[in-house]
Amino acid sequence: MIARGIMLGVDQPVILHMLDIPPAAEALNGVKMELVDAAFPLLKGVVATTDVVEACTGVNVAVMVGGFPRKEGMERKDVMSKNVSIYKAQASALEAHAAPNCKVLVVANPANTNALILKEFAPSIPEKNITCLTRLDHNRALGQISERLNVQVSDVKNVIIWGNHSSTQYPDVNHATVKTASGEKPVRELVADDEWLNGEFIKTVQQRGAAIIKARKLSSALSAASSACDHIRDWVLGTPEGTFVSMGVYSDGSYGVPAGLIYSFPVTCSGGEWKIVQGLPIDELSRQKMDATAQELSEEKTLAYSCLE
Ligand SMILES: NC(=O)c1ccc[n+]([C@@H]2O[C@H](COP(=O)([O-])OP(=O)(O)OC[C@H]3O[C@@H](n4cnc5c(N)ncnc54)[C@H](O)[C@@H]3O)[C@@H](O)[C@H]2O)c1
Repeated sequence: MIARGIMLGVDQPVILHMLDIPPAAEALNGVKMELVDAAFPLLKGVVATTDVVEACTGVNVAVMVGGFPRKEGMERKDVMSKNVSIYKAQASALEAHAAPNCKVLVVANPANTNALILKEFAPSIPEKNITCLTRLDHNRALGQISERLNVQVSDVKNVIIWGNHSSTQYPDVNHATVKTASGEKPVRELVADDEWLNGEFIKTVQQRGAAIIKARKLSSALSAASSACDHIRDWVLGTPEGTFVSMGVYSDGSYGVPAGLIYSFPVTCSGGEWKIVQGLPIDELSRQKMDATAQELSEEKTLAYSCLE
């Protein structure tokens, strides 16, 4: 997708740097061969390496997919300490060798807290340059509304994912609209079923990752890659006028979310910078759900910091 221009635009040549661990080196080389064989006109070069310094040198955009997700029977603390050691090494390499103003997107789970660890170990990278992926959840919410109303997904906009990329996230449709023949209409009005919107809809989006794993016996791949491209494209090239998207970003205390968490907010992007959408009214139910996911992130942060000691 990146080599086809879906992430950075069809007029932007790219050099791909791909990092994996030594046991995966041969497979990584196979991916490199396929990239060369595809003869993508925009692909100016491919670096396939197991050396984190070589991988990070000169990069303008870093998409971090290597991580250690929790496996059955593992304690949360064990998972966190594995991610702390991975992100410590990668953060230091990015800080020392990436291009100035490199934009970082953390995809690997626990995505928000991995991003926070990365920020901790790369103090000279501005915090506004470190983000995590919740665009997949955002796109899932758009998809659910589009299916329910039988409208084209591109006519639905301004859903919000608040909080953690986990099952405590809060998919919020209170500000979402649909383009209709008679103008833009609120999603709540068109769906006209608050019980579904406040119940099954939220649950489906929260649990979608698990549902995909159950069905495929593998986690989401196409939709995750596509939404990572959406995240970077909008960040670099800007969001359309009147549209906001969800990004996990460093909280400045907006909407009463504790500062210092990587929390998913509604944002607009322009000139390569994101900005949290301000002034949206928050109802009682939303407040509770936004606080619950913030609470989970605060607990993850405490756990992560205890692994740093
Ligand atoms: N935020 C999201 O929306 C979202 C969506 C999908 C997947 N994920 C997460 O993204 C991550 C990747 O998912 P996947 O399905 O591609 O997993 P995967 O296991 O297929 O791929 C992960 C790759 O990372 C490599 N890796 C492991 N440790 C590494 C290290 N220290 N340095 C460099 N590379 C390393 C592995 O060898 C493997 O090739 C997982 O943590 C998954 O939970 C997040």
